[in-house]
Amino acid sequence: MPNIKLINIVGARPQIIKASAIGRAIRSYFQNDIKEILIHTGQHYDKELSDVFFDELEIHKPDYNLGVGSAIHGRQTSMMITGIEEVLLKENPDCVLLYGDTNSTLAGALAASKLHFPVIHIEAGLRSFNKTMPEELNRIMSDHSSTLLFAPTNAAFKNLIREGFRPENSPPYTLDNPKIYLTGDIMLDNTLFFAELAEKKKAFLLDKLSVKRDDFILATIHREANTDDISRLEAILSTLKSLADENKISFIMPLHPRTTITLRTKLKSFYNELINNQYIKIIPPVSFLEMTLLEKTAKMIITDSGGVQKESHFFKKPCLVLRKETEWIELVNNKTALLVDADPGKIRNGFSWFIKCGPELKYPGFYGDGKTAEFILKEIMLMFEKT
Ligand code: UD1
Ligand code: UDP
Repeated sequence: MPNIKLINIVGARPQIIKASAIGRAIRSYFQNDIKEILIHTGQHYDKELSDVFFDELEIHKPDYNLGVGSAIHGRQTSMMITGIEEVLLKENPDCVLLYGDTNSTLAGALAASKLHFPVIHIEAGLRSFNKTMPEELNRIMSDHSSTLLFAPTNAAFKNLIREGFRPENSPPYTLDNPKIYLTGDIMLDNTLFFAELAEKKKAFLLDKLSVKRDDFILATIHREANTDDISRLEAILSTLKSLADENKISFIMPLHPRTTITLRTKLKSFYNELINNQYIKIIPPVSFLEMTLLEKTAKMIITDSGGVQKESHFFKKPCLVLRKETEWIELVNNKTALLVDADPGKIRNGFSWFIKCGPELKYPGFYGDGKTAEFILKEIMLMFEKT
């Protein structure tokens, strides 16, 4: 069997969580075949956006932390490229593994592909068809710098074909002859693995937050479009506040620091109103086990997060999506997710609809069998056997 040196690049919260699934699969099945080296770009650096996951999800500690931190897109991405390039030249890996669509993904894709290291992209092919989202640009450019592309859904796989990727390509795979795969979603691996542990370890959280199972709403907001445009943020949160008051139901909101910073600095008096409301519980970001428990026990989920949309489906919860469009289109077609944008009328209608019809909704298995990480690693091994 080949001995493969794989560089795993993470930077933002969801990527760290996804790296847990890959790390687990390496330890379980490829311990003697794949050597994992982890680069953390430092895009996320607060304990609750980064360290908490390494400890809780038993993730390989970073071999390199580039400590890049927050900055405007170009500056942040360029610092990451510089740091990643140095590590790649030093380590000379066989391949570079990237997740999703953040600036850390793009930096990894550019640094690695220009040095001719094969890039493996997990969550390839997802498209919102909205290029004002930084993530959409990151996805397109990362996919077109990749050699193995793992699309998590049919829609994502078809998007790649529409952009010229050919499913019939045969080995040896290269940047000019890439291979596309339809896999499941790697986050299902994590949810299946951690859901029971979340119940065991974190059920006390419900008492701590004074909520009961199936009797609270879980909401997260962090997208640039919703946090940097304060009229959208205010429209969303004032609608959620009135729904909480009218329905006398608690809203648990673990907010990304980006959102809290905007509220504290640009919407100060509104923020005070929110934190003094008896039903609105704004809390710092929670750990993955805590989030899993909250998703599992919520009545409904309201979010602009990509990951949380899917997890709502894993736990069979209806989801209002605070965006105009989504990459996880199967959820919208299935009518278990509704695109409500930042529109008070749509949010209210969607909320009432789900309160009324939520229990009747069906949640087909769109996202594979929970063994996506294993599948991806097997294909990586095959690529090196055949070259
Ligand atoms: C990033 C990703 C987004 C992903 C999200 C996951 C990009 C362009 N965006 O968005 O796709 O959904 O991560 O959570 O890569 N901040 C802190 N502490 C931290 C990190 C950030 O306070 O540890 C604050 C800073 O004010 C920073 C802001 O959050 O300026 C935005 O951080 P950034 O990493 O640029 O983007 P995210 O919004 O986190
Ligand atoms: N998450 C978490 N704690 C939180 C909020 C989210 O552990 O307070 C997890 C969530 O369960 C999901 C991932 O973070 O697995 C989603 O990350 P995020 O919403 O930041 O980014 P996106 O998926 O939109 O890129």
